[in-house]
Amino acid sequence: MPFAHITGWGMYVPEPILTNDDISKLVDTNDAWIRDRTGIRERHIAREHEFPSTLGVEAALKALAVANLAPTDLDLIICTSSSPEYIFPATACLIQDQIGATKAGAFDLQAACTGFIFATNMAAQAIRSGSIKSALVVGTEVLSRMVNWKDRNTCILFGDGAGAFVLQASDVPGGVISAVMHSDGSGADALSIPGGGTRFPATEATLHEGKHFVQMDGKEVFRFATRVMGRAVVEALESANMKIEDVQCIVPHQANYRIIETAAKYLKLPIDKFVINVERYGNTSTASIPIATVEGLQKGRINTGDKVVFVGFGGGLTWGAMVVEWTGPIPANKKHIYTEQYRLFARLRSLLRRVWRHIEGFFSRKEL
Ligand code: UT7
Repeated sequence: MPFAHITGWGMYVPEPILTNDDISKLVDTNDAWIRDRTGIRERHIAREHEFPSTLGVEAALKALAVANLAPTDLDLIICTSSSPEYIFPATACLIQDQIGATKAGAFDLQAACTGFIFATNMAAQAIRSGSIKSALVVGTEVLSRMVNWKDRNTCILFGDGAGAFVLQASDVPGGVISAVMHSDGSGADALSIPGGGTRFPATEATLHEGKHFVQMDGKEVFRFATRVMGRAVVEALESANMKIEDVQCIVPHQANYRIIETAAKYLKLPIDKFVINVERYGNTSTASIPIATVEGLQKGRINTGDKVVFVGFGGGLTWGAMVVEWTGPIPANKKHIYTEQYRLFARLRSLLRRVWRHIEGFFSRKEL
């Protein structure tokens, strides 16, 4: 059975920064409260022309460059987002088109903030089964367009950004070792965007009631998160036949510094075992784990051979953890891949396919 290695990683956040002081001009809040209760100082906000797919493409191309893998070699793309571009088509298909991943199947996976762990596990399972050789997993968010900027309970928390992993098959042991996935739909109301689906289709009334915005019972989600995070780490380690002492680094979902602190206490670990960057990005939902991983790698917190645990929780309710032996890119005598060339090729290809579809439509109408 092949092993599923994480061979590429990338992140992207939009340039504009919104500080706590900026938010205090919109709602009744202040920097001291936000920092004290959440650990967040600032977050990045997408510009008008930026969308989950465009942020995701930036992160994906960086991940492919690290793996030195051409988009045309990808077999599968899984995108996970709590703020997808549309209900359908899948954001994954938009990314597939923009990077020119000509042979990849692409779909979205919805598990709110736990999505990146679930999606990485699905990609790893597909590789381990032997059915595919490579996969791209993208977590991407423009949550700034889904929060109510008049609701201080939620608007202080979230930020925009994207992160991506490339996974590849190898006979060398390592990569994704174990994963646990959990859900409890009885807590569905605790964190949701109720409007715009088929339960509450968009109407003037749903707009007026703000059903298209993130709704959250913060205390309930806080209690749930502190209950499940540590336990999920222990479970994933048990399934990997490992102990907490074997782990060099934990990359948790970045929702609230206090939640991470509680998990550290539960696991009897010093807080510096955790990669934490919530202060600069806020909660970027599905993108928070890959963004923190990329920063952990850049800062030398994660190194080749390290055992790393990812742990996340979110709406659904969902939660999960994954144990990985970090190996990095697969050495190969391949020539260097220039991902920017693929971006140009993808644009041209997409344009030609759209024109061709138009011409085909014109002639087939004449035939009917
Ligand atoms: O990916 C998962 C996403 N969600 C989460 O992880 C959220 C988990 N929950 C949390 O992080 C925390 O519950 C919050 C940060 C959302 C809230 O912190 P808290 O310590 O649970 O605050 P609270 O809701 O109990 O509110 C305490 C007080 C209240 O005032 P009173 O009733 O004590 O007078 C609130 O009205 O703080 C007030 N408050 C605020 N004050 C200033 C609530 N939000 C704010 C605010 N600024 N933004």
